[in-house]
Amino acid sequence: MAGQGGSIGDSGGATRPLRVAVLGAGTVGREVVAGLLEGRSPGLAPESGAFELVGVAARDLVRAAASGIPAHLLTDAPAHLVAGATDVVVELMGGEEPARTLIAAALTAGKAVVTANKYVVARHGPELEAIARLTRAPFRYEAAVMGGTPILRLLSEDLAGTTVSSLRGIVNGTTNHILTEMAANGVGYADALADAQASGYAEADPTGDVEGGDAADKLVVLARLAFGVWLDRAGIAVHRRGDRPGITGVTAGDLARANRDGLAIRLLASARRRASDGRLEAAVLTTAVPEASALGQTNGVRNRIEIEAERLGRLAVEGPGAGGAATAAAVLADLLAVRRGDGSTWGDLPAAALETAASLLPKARSFFVGPSGVKYPVED
Ligand SMILES: NC(=O)c1ccc[n+]([C@@H]2O[C@H](COP(=O)([O-])OP(=O)(O)OC[C@H]3O[C@@H](n4cnc5c(N)ncnc54)[C@H](OP(=O)(O)O)[C@@H]3O)[C@@H](O)[C@H]2O)c1
Repeated sequence: MAGQGGSIGDSGGATRPLRVAVLGAGTVGREVVAGLLEGRSPGLAPESGAFELVGVAARDLVRAAASGIPAHLLTDAPAHLVAGATDVVVELMGGEEPARTLIAAALTAGKAVVTANKYVVARHGPELEAIARLTRAPFRYEAAVMGGTPILRLLSEDLAGTTVSSLRGIVNGTTNHILTEMAANGVGYADALADAQASGYAEADPTGDVEGGDAADKLVVLARLAFGVWLDRAGIAVHRRGDRPGITGVTAGDLARANRDGLAIRLLASARRRASDGRLEAAVLTTAVPEASALGQTNGVRNRIEIEAERLGRLAVEGPGAGGAATAAAVLADLLAVRRGDGSTWGDLPAAALETAASLLPKARSFFVGPSGVKYPVED
């Protein structure tokens, strides 16, 4: 692993600062820029000489400057930053294009890439990993899952001595916030969504979150590191009630009855290796869990992932799953990892093949049926 990025920042034995370009000056990008300029940890401090911020790309330069980013760093031409005198490209624009093309161009040129873009990694992970392996450019995406809470490095490095048999978890803070509010206040889905948007917990277009697509993206990223395969994103089943995917068909009545029965409804992303033939099963399902369980007690925008590993048993990671400052902490940690020569997020794991997951059928002993008619599998 070390050595993949070994030449980055080295110049004839003497080290110079890594020249960093940040693409995107939104919720996360602004915090990353501030972290670099302020030196938010000893490794980032200006006197450490580790990094030099050479440019920040945004579309609305006036707004970006008003957010405190020095005007001389700003540009509306991210491709120029990628092609220019930079060692590390930090992609925080989101969406598929031009993010995918810019990440691919940076890796092709042998530049390190740090991103929080689960949408791109889930759909183009195999291609981008292949380029990074070819050019030996570090490719890191810890911030793509659970925001600032470290989970990917745990899977690829700390659990490398065991075999993960299954994982499941709450990986989308927006939907968990909406479900928590609906249960606590007895409000319907539409009102809880509007409230989440007004409070900044849901985007203006919440489709990716509430329909379960974001959770499926994160499941692909988790599976790459937990099981060593790139799951075909299109093959991940997402729970739907008729034409209502994800949590969009959950009603206040369902949550009230679940509460009466000592249950909480959670959107769980799950994957496991089938014992019979080793095939991976994966799905994103609205699931009923005991209200008193750890998943039932994971409220609001918090995330929690539970992992079953052979000879180790169950372990769990819980923490903030989103937010500019928290997510920036993971991006900055990835930058420090690049500086150390730690290589890519997959560490020493071998290259991964593309695989289509079988649909994960709930291992539920029973189903909870809400007044809406939706059947929720019940899990411990
Ligand atoms: N927000 C979170 O809590 C969170 C958590 C985990 C992961 N992430 C991921 O982090 C990434 C960034 O999220 P965010 O919330 O920071 O997004 P955001 O607030 O929408 O910011 C996106 C930034 O990218 C810029 N941008 C977009 N397209 C561009 C283009 N073609 N050229 C130049 N600049 C462009 C935007 O510029 P303008 O504003 O000028 O249009 C804006 O500055 C996404 O991949 C997201 O999934 C976010």
